[in-house]
Amino acid sequence: MIDLEHLVAEAQTRFAEAQDTTTLENQKAHYLGKTGVLTELLKGLGKLDPEARKTEGPRVNVAKQHIEQSLNARRQALADMQMNARLNAEAIDVTLPGRGRKRGGIHPVMRTWQRVEEIFGSMGFDVADGPEIETDWYNFTALNSPENHPARSMQDTFYVEGHDSTGKPLLLRTHTSPMQVRYARTHQPPIKVILPGRTYRVDSDATHSPMFHQVEGLWIDENISFADLKGVYTEFLKHFFETDDLVVRFRPSFFPFTEPSAEIDMMFESGPNKGRWLEISGSGQVHPTVVRNYGLDPERYIGFAFGSGLERLTMLRYSVNDLRLFYEGDLRFLKQFN
Ligand code: DAH
Repeated sequence: MIDLEHLVAEAQTRFAEAQDTTTLENQKAHYLGKTGVLTELLKGLGKLDPEARKTEGPRVNVAKQHIEQSLNARRQALADMQMNARLNAEAIDVTLPGRGRKRGGIHPVMRTWQRVEEIFGSMGFDVADGPEIETDWYNFTALNSPENHPARSMQDTFYVEGHDSTGKPLLLRTHTSPMQVRYARTHQPPIKVILPGRTYRVDSDATHSPMFHQVEGLWIDENISFADLKGVYTEFLKHFFETDDLVVRFRPSFFPFTEPSAEIDMMFESGPNKGRWLEISGSGQVHPTVVRNYGLDPERYIGFAFGSGLERLTMLRYSVNDLRLFYEGDLRFLKQFN
C-alpha cells in the first residue's frame, strides 16, 4: 500500500512553500501533471488485481481530491496576497497634509495698470496698445520733436538693428506718445483712448529703470479743452488713490507735442505724504502740428493728451521709495501687494 497520507501532506507543504504562482504551478505539475505522481498512480491501478483496485482506487481518488483542494486554496491565497500588495502600494494616505500649489499674485505695477484701465474705462476711454519697437517718425518726428532734440541721442535711446523704409534706425519707444499718432491715424474722432505699455530709456537709478511703464491718454474732438483735462485727470487721481483729500495743480511746462504744456502735480491733504507737492504726469493741449500728423485738420479738431508713469503712480500709492524693488523679483517685497 502506498503511503497516500504522506504524499498529500508533502504536496500541501510544497504548495504552502510556493511564494508565487509560477512555483505553485510547477508543483502542481509534479503531482497532477501528465506525468505527475498522482497521474502515474492512477495509471498504475490498472495493473492491480481487481480486489486491490477496489480498495486502492477510491483512496487514490480521495488523495487526488485533497491535493486539488489544497492547490486551489493556495492559488486563492497567492492571488489575495498579490491583490493586497497592490492595494498597499497604491494606497493614498488621506491624512497627509496637502501639497497645494501656492497662489501667484499680480505684480504691483500690473495692478496699477489694471486700475488705470478700469478707472478710465469707467469714464468712457477705450484701451489700445501698439509696438514697442518704433520708427523714428512715430517716436519723434510726428510728435514735433526737432531733429536735434537730446532725446534722440544714443545716450538716451535704445536703437536696435534694422531700419524703416526711409533708412532711419528703429528704436525701443522712449514713451507711449507715438501711440497717439498710430491710434489717431486709424480711428475717427471723437478719439478718447488710453494707451498703456512698456517704454525704454538708457537710464537706471532709484527712480528710473531702463524699462518702465507709461499710460498715454488722448481725447480729441471738436471742443475738448484744458478744462476737460483738469476734470478728467483730477477725477482719475481721486479714484486711483481712493481719496477726495487731494488737490491738483497744473504747472506750466514744455513738451514739443503739446501747446500749452503742463506738469500735473498733486498734494495729499491727509496721510503720510500730506502737504508735499508730487509730480505725477506730463500733459497738454495737443500741438496743431501733431493733430495734422494724426491726419486731422487742426482748425477743426482739438484736445488734450497726457503721459503718466505707472511705476510712479504705484510708488505713491504704496509708499515705495525705490523703483528697482519692482524688478528684483524678491518675493518678500512682492507678497505684500497680494
Ligand atoms: N511723453 C512724455 C514723456 O515721456 C510725457 C507726456 C507729456 C505725454 C505731455 C503727453 C503729454 O501726452 O501731453 O516724458
